[in-house]
Amino acid sequence: MIYIFLGAPGTGKGTVSYLLNKKNNYKHISTGNIFRDLVKKNTKLGKKVREILKKGELINNELTFKVLLEEIEKYNLKKENIILDGYPRNIEQAEILFEYFNRYHKDLKISAINFELRNKIIIERLTNRLICPFCGKIYHKTFPELKPKKEWYCDDDKTKLITREDDKIKSIKKRLVIYDEKTKPLIEYFSEKGILIELDVNDTPNNIYEKVLKICQN
Ligand code: AP5
Ligand code: MG
Repeated sequence: MIYIFLGAPGTGKGTVSYLLNKKNNYKHISTGNIFRDLVKKNTKLGKKVREILKKGELINNELTFKVLLEEIEKYNLKKENIILDGYPRNIEQAEILFEYFNRYHKDLKISAINFELRNKIIIERLTNRLICPFCGKIYHKTFPELKPKKEWYCDDDKTKLITREDDKIKSIKKRLVIYDEKTKPLIEYFSEKGILIELDVNDTPNNIYEKVLKICQN
């Protein structure tokens, strides 16, 4: 079973994915996380990716599908629950993905959940985001359910938390524009395929988690 998590940056896709992975063993594939790991390697490619991420632009479709494929092929797509968080990000990526599924994984059940939130709240969430550079866990500086127990330190591995390079306001605005131009058309695309589920995510993380789990178990 494949669950595509669609939605603008900062709508909480990574946060819900973390909970579904921890509590229900859903496999979480985030192309953003894969690229951030690539940046850490500091290779020539890593440096190139870093510049693109920092500006808030999209990585090219070819490289993105290559890194996605390397990850997706680790799993049994028929038996496991797989979350695709942040892929596809434009119509061409969706077509590449469906062509791959049609060719190699016929009859796979696919749903796309669209995380809906106003830009004002998105900006508040992103400018207060902290992440653990070691395990990737996502925090919010002040939100009760999401703030670290010890300020600026990861609850799980005690690593000092950092802010994401693309959580500067200029980069956030750029990502929101790119979302409107490139990613939003996927809402209609998935709707036409009959696999779209709309979800208002202006709620607490635990409530969102419960709602998403219910959708997935239906
Ligand atoms: P990616 O990592 O996917 O970033 P994004 O889409 O911009 O989304 P975010 O991770 O910023 O938001 P999220 O929805 O996961 O929210 P989160 O749970 O963190 O991609 C990064 C970059 O990689 C892209 O810009 C691009 O360059 C590249 N890339 C990735 N995929 C690509 C692709 N397919 N093609 C090309 N390029 C690609 O939560 C956000 C904040 O809100 C946190 O502080 C969190 O604590 C807080 N929060 C979460 N839920 C709640 C809640 N319910 N209430 C209050 N606060 C909440
Ligand atoms: Mg994310």
